[in-house]
Amino acid sequence: MWIEQYRPATLDEVIGQPHIVERLKFMVEGIHKGEDIPHMLFAGMQGTGKTSTAIAFMKTAFGDAWSQNWLEMNASDERSISVIRSKVKEFASRGVIGTYTTNTGETKPIPFNTVFLDECDNLTPEAQAALRRMMERYPQTRFILSANYPQKLIDPIKDRCAFASTRFRPISVEVMRPALLALSTALTDEALDLLMRTSRGSMRKALNLLWTLTRVAGEVDVEDVEDYIVTLEPTRVKALLSKVAKAKGAERSKGLRLYREVDKEVDALSARGMSGVEILDAFYDLVTTDESMPLALQQRILSGIGQALHWASVAQDDVLAVKAFLRNITLI
Ligand SMILES: Nc1ncnc2c1ncn2[C@@H]1O[C@H](COP(=O)(O)OP(=O)(O)O)[C@@H](O)[C@H]1O
Ligand SMILES: [Mg+2]
Repeated sequence: MWIEQYRPATLDEVIGQPHIVERLKFMVEGIHKGEDIPHMLFAGMQGTGKTSTAIAFMKTAFGDAWSQNWLEMNASDERSISVIRSKVKEFASRGVIGTYTTNTGETKPIPFNTVFLDECDNLTPEAQAALRRMMERYPQTRFILSANYPQKLIDPIKDRCAFASTRFRPISVEVMRPALLALSTALTDEALDLLMRTSRGSMRKALNLLWTLTRVAGEVDVEDVEDYIVTLEPTRVKALLSKVAKAKGAERSKGLRLYREVDKEVDALSARGMSGVEILDAFYDLVTTDESMPLALQQRILSGIGQALHWASVAQDDVLAVKAFLRNITLI
């Protein structure tokens, strides 16, 4: 897959995050001069380069020796904080190994181990407190934490990290276009525009889609892209809303049947790869662009979307949040 193949190998290859890359390059220079570095928090939406930047930072600082002192874990996969703790402990007790060549040509011992902990925002507050203790415990270990929703992290963790108040930005169209064109020129301008719109700032999504599309023979046009993406068109959102309105007004058994149909449509979108948040986005787009919708109704739907986004982030099942949203809104 391209997303593995085209992981930036150095900080210079990371695109669209100059505010972060500049500071990291500065840190690399510091390391080479023997200076210490802080723990770091990489926050922002997925597909914007958090993992890639952490690896590129290590490679830029330590060259080929980077991976010897690198431990990568995913906070959602590791079953509990005690599993994470024992791995970190084992890693720290092993000591720091290997040497690297500085930018002035000296050979120096690598100064610290790095633990990359992905999706930290999925840790409970208690687990986060345990993580915070780990961050203080091992003087030769630096943590790079990554989070999609940094507001879920406790302050004592954020206070200990550089970059806690900055964000990885969605990759802008201007930055994304040349990067994608460097990989493939098979797409027409309109097809590329649609691909980038669909990706909504995620380089991962854009690369995955581009990779899929370059399997199409010959020139790739808008229709080819449409075949591969799932979109929820405004007309379909309207149809869903009117079905919900009918269900609310209907007698019990008919109402239930209509709601089941609505659930089924939501499941079908999810089965094609659309996330609950993306489905809610489509409702948001319709509501905020439909000139004919009464303001009071618009407000009710928007407040429902707000609540569903909250449910989605708390419950980790955003498709269920969409279904609950559709049963809860009052349309008539
Ligand atoms: N800022 C970026 N610069 C260059 N490539 C990127 C960037 N962001 C994402 N990518 C590409 O997308 C893939 C996934 O990015 P990743 O670093 O895993 O994102 P995140 O950790 O933020 O979800 C990478 O392998 C890389 O090819
Ligand atoms: Mg990542």
